[in-house]
Amino acid sequence: MKNTVADILIEALPYIQKFSGKTVVIKYGGHAMVDEELKTKFSKDIILLKTIGINPVVVHGGGPQINKALKAMGITSTFIKGMRYTDDATMDVVEMVLGGKVNKDVVSRINLEGGRAVGLTGKDAGLILAEKMTIYHQEDETKPPEIIDPGMVGDVSRVNPEIIHTLSDQGFIPIIAPVGVGTKGETYNINADVVAARIASALSAERLILVTDVDGVLDSDKTLISSLNEQQARQMIRDSRISGGMIPKVECGLSALNAGVKKAHIINGKIAHAVLLELFTDSGIGTQLFAKKFNN
Ligand SMILES: Nc1ncnc2c1ncn2[C@@H]1O[C@H](COP(=O)(O)OP(=O)(O)OP(=O)(O)O)[C@@H](O)[C@H]1O
Ligand SMILES: [Mg+2]
Repeated sequence: MKNTVADILIEALPYIQKFSGKTVVIKYGGHAMVDEELKTKFSKDIILLKTIGINPVVVHGGGPQINKALKAMGITSTFIKGMRYTDDATMDVVEMVLGGKVNKDVVSRINLEGGRAVGLTGKDAGLILAEKMTIYHQEDETKPPEIIDPGMVGDVSRVNPEIIHTLSDQGFIPIIAPVGVGTKGETYNINADVVAARIASALSAERLILVTDVDGVLDSDKTLISSLNEQQARQMIRDSRISGGMIPKVECGLSALNAGVKKAHIINGKIAHAVLLELFTDSGIGTQLFAKKFNN
């Protein structure tokens, strides 16, 4: 008989053996945090990984949650090349929402289901050092490129992963909000895909899994592209088939692969137990990214 509990567990066995003792970095997109049931299922997936000896590290986003808080406070947001212009008032809200509400929601759900999650922002133990991001914009070839000031939008300058090792080794699950700290103690708003990729690289993770609200990278006719190499991805960004929030995901996935992360996937968090399906089944789901050297 097919698909008995035993069959399913046995299909997972080689993967469990392979990943045991390894680190898996999961970016939990704000857009994937849609309903209570899915959030609980995601929490259980993370606990299951930890229970079988894998070290999950979660980096979360929070775009929709930030939008809601800004709206409630009457602050309007503008976007430059997919980045939220972050003035001081916006930065305060971003830090409150990501480091407070969203982070503690992810942490407490995992703990409620029996895990031991600990929330961090990039400020804790100097985890994420950041610097101001510079955005270049060129209207067209005839005009010189202009430098756009995005406010307190940051790039990761360094990751100090000691605190992650300390927590993971002691049985805790680190849950990281994408807020970085500058050399003068200033606060930076960083895209969570960027943070997840840099943390995965610093930890030499086995997997980087970017959990979002679509099946993966979709082509113009909305079909799923199940494997995507660097050249194809660059072309899709150039001709705008990949846009908005998918751009940092693809770029960060590729840079993590180039920095030694073994595999990077983009998956749909609206599918129940998406993380387990990606890691522990032969077929997998979503889009797998391939760096240049592994072009296929
Ligand atoms: N080619 C593409 N295939 C799939 N999605 C795409 C593509 N191009 C653009 N997108 C957009 O990218 C979005 C995913 O990125 P988005 O930043 O919105 O979500 P997230 O990163 O999961 O959440 P958050 O930013 O809150 O952490 C999709 O919902 C889709 O609208
Ligand atoms: Mg995003």
